[in-house]
Amino acid sequence: RRAADMDPLAAAIDQGTSSTRFLVFNTKTAQLISHHQVELKQHFPKEGWVEADPREIMDTVHECLEKTCQKLAQLSVDVSRIKAVGVTNQRETTLVWDKETGEPLYNAIVWLDLRTQSTVERLITKTPSRSKNHLKHKTGLPISTYFSAVKLRWLLDNVEAVQQAVLSKRAMFGTVDSWIIWSLTGGRDGGVHVTDVSNASRTLLFNIHSLDWDPELCSFFDIPMEILPTVRSSSEIYGRMRSGSLAGVPISGCLGDQSAALVGQMCFEEGQAKNTYGTGCFLLRNTGTKPVTSEHGLITTIAYKLGRDKPACYALEGSVAIAGAVIRWLRDNMCIVQSSSEIEQLAAEAGTSYGCYFVPAFSGLYAPYWEPSARGIICGLTQFTNRSHLAFAALEAVCFQTREILDAMNQDCCIPLPVLGVDGGMTGNRLLMQLQADILCIPVVRPSMSETTALGAAMAAGAAEGVEVWSLNPDQLPEVTAERYQPQINTQESELRFARWKKAVQKSMNWET
Ligand code: G3P
Repeated sequence: RRAADMDPLAAAIDQGTSSTRFLVFNTKTAQLISHHQVELKQHFPKEGWVEADPREIMDTVHECLEKTCQKLAQLSVDVSRIKAVGVTNQRETTLVWDKETGEPLYNAIVWLDLRTQSTVERLITKTPSRSKNHLKHKTGLPISTYFSAVKLRWLLDNVEAVQQAVLSKRAMFGTVDSWIIWSLTGGRDGGVHVTDVSNASRTLLFNIHSLDWDPELCSFFDIPMEILPTVRSSSEIYGRMRSGSLAGVPISGCLGDQSAALVGQMCFEEGQAKNTYGTGCFLLRNTGTKPVTSEHGLITTIAYKLGRDKPACYALEGSVAIAGAVIRWLRDNMCIVQSSSEIEQLAAEAGTSYGCYFVPAFSGLYAPYWEPSARGIICGLTQFTNRSHLAFAALEAVCFQTREILDAMNQDCCIPLPVLGVDGGMTGNRLLMQLQADILCIPVVRPSMSETTALGAAMAAGAAEGVEVWSLNPDQLPEVTAERYQPQINTQESELRFARWKKAVQKSMNWET
């Protein structure tokens, strides 16, 4: 047998907004051995509301896990080689469940959900400075519909089952990582109620300096602290899989998906950055062990803490709510394509938006504007405009939004980013990648293995104390091959298009006036 056939394996559950996956990696070569993916239904019960069914989340987790194990068996890979499982997840999405029945008390309120707009306004009015940035010095975040505390506040105000469970001390709050880990480690029969620092830093309840839930923040949002999970590092054994083909395997990695992608792209050094194109798109730049406060609309977040005794590393983040979701919208709502993969071909047919600009502010605008009342807008239409131009404008919108956050980041960090590492589902779209390099005026580099989110979570799990099958020592990290896209248009043209985009953004924020 070849030595590689004996290498230990590490796996990751990647629970995103649109899909759930389970992926298994070789810990020595980082090679993807097998995986399974299932699309996750999103529920839109009212305009602006976005929910996911927590039971369905767990069903998709179990399905992906078992199907991957079956695929491994077909490849004659012994599942007992899997030594650790990591969890990575859509962040901020908020759940409350009953610890005695194990049942969710409401659907998960997804990060994109806008129902808390008036809650946010009320909370901002309550601050002495009447500013959305009032809690930024502790949390790194603005008060926004995006983050968990306001969603939890809504659940406590509006859902009787949640109120009752809190009164009878049966309520557990968690982001998706907590729900998955609690369920997989036994649920109501001894499941562990934990989260990691990266996920906790997205709640508005976590002090990113002291690395603890903050009583003042909890009191500001009027959240009972006993319903919060215990915060742990991103790489340690939290518990073991209770059942199924991987029963007994430790769950030893936990990272919000954007943090996991940063790890998977091996951005361990200060100044290194990556942009992940999923439902939204998120540019994170590692700022080392010191949090950097943005003056240009970015947020400060905990990137990771890779071990109980390791320091926390911070990142500056530019969050864009709608990236892949605009393609899904063109497919599902406008029916201009039947599958998302057709977009590249369709946009390439025109090769230009023909002066059409599309700001997909479906959930308001996140960084750098943080304007919840912004709405989507398409402008510059003529009788000549067709669906191909619209597809092109949608791809350009993703690139322009990235340009806005890159500009903000360069201003905050003073040292401009020389190249942008990218990953995520949309990066398979070569036209998008070329457009991105053109609009940023810097090269864009895409690793040939684009599942970096899952890779990062598997690395954290494999490196945990007591598992130690994956070395995070920079000298022992595997080489990654990458595809590079160079800017092909001149800066003047790029700037002109970007200036027009900015005008369209202004209109999306003032479309009613
Ligand atoms: O903050 C939300 C983010 O974690 C969601 O990621 O991959 O579903 O776009 P994704």
